Amino acid sequence: MRNPAAEPLDLARRPRRNRKAEWVRRLVRENRITTDDLIWPIFINAGETPREPIASMPGVDRVSVAEAVNVAKEAVALGIPAIAIFPNTPSHLRDETGSEALNPDNLTCRALRAIKAAVPGLGLITDVALDPYTSHGHDGLLEDGRILNDETVALLCQQALVQAKAGADVIAPSDMMDGRIGAIRAALDDAGFTEVSIMAYSAKYASAYYGPFRDAVGSAGTLSGDKKTYQMDYANSAEALVEAELDIAEGADMVMVKPGLPYLDIVHRLKSTFGMPTYAYQVSGEYAMLHAAAERGMIDLDKAMVETLTAFKRAGADGILTYFAPRMARYLAQKP
Ligand code: PBG
Repeated sequence: MRNPAAEPLDLARRPRRNRKAEWVRRLVRENRITTDDLIWPIFINAGETPREPIASMPGVDRVSVAEAVNVAKEAVALGIPAIAIFPNTPSHLRDETGSEALNPDNLTCRALRAIKAAVPGLGLITDVALDPYTSHGHDGLLEDGRILNDETVALLCQQALVQAKAGADVIAPSDMMDGRIGAIRAALDDAGFTEVSIMAYSAKYASAYYGPFRDAVGSAGTLSGDKKTYQMDYANSAEALVEAELDIAEGADMVMVKPGLPYLDIVHRLKSTFGMPTYAYQVSGEYAMLHAAAERGMIDLDKAMVETLTAFKRAGADGILTYFAPRMARYLAQKP
């Protein structure tokens, strides 16, 4: 790279020449988003009602197990490689220890089995954390206001095994307990699930952007306090490297950054430091904000969708978990 201070300015350079028409913009384009980059997060409801809208997430429904099979078929038809499954556990099944997380017939496991049987080629990613199952809405065991680390990790290992047995291809621990990746890897390997991958939510920040998700999985009303003793402080970035380094050393196959757009610097640092398959989660609040602005006529939704998703690629993400996945896939399919 030339040093502009050391050499005279080259007045003949006209960077706009490479932008003069769409054909040349296409030729010089450095990054593009394709359906191969998309992971579609979906929410599962108990009961037979096929779909129930989520007020804070326009276009996103909680779906029954039977309807989830249709969603999975749609993902395949759209060319989306994988979906991520999140349960809205009925409130009477939530307790202090999140015991429903270990039930082999819980919503996540029922959805896994039904989808695996119907569409075996679709990648199935499941969330490991206790928050959709606990009465207090935390990701771990709560004792006297503290989240217990090692006791939680022991439960997360069992949760991961229950999900692997039901057909999960990728276990995605989102709890931010210390040491959970190594423990879950060992538990999976001991049980013969050496082929089940781990996507670590390595740098997951305590964020205001998770609001609509907590509505979707019904933990908004139940959450006591905040998650700042386990999720990261958004003021930190070197710490994200420490978290990712540990996860990789402990056996993570893929690392993830969450939320997405406000954390592109972290995506870039993780990708350039470790070179691992690196993902970003464009979370519920980001999705809701874009929709809210578009509904009020302030931005064009499709343009903002493509721009934000391309920005993740530019930052170095290999893929994006996004509620826009089906809309983006349809948009790409329409393009000539
Ligand atoms: C919980 C979990 C959360 C999300 C994914 N897994 C919320 C939280 O940590 O409170 C958020 C996803 C989103 O906002 O779209 N383990």
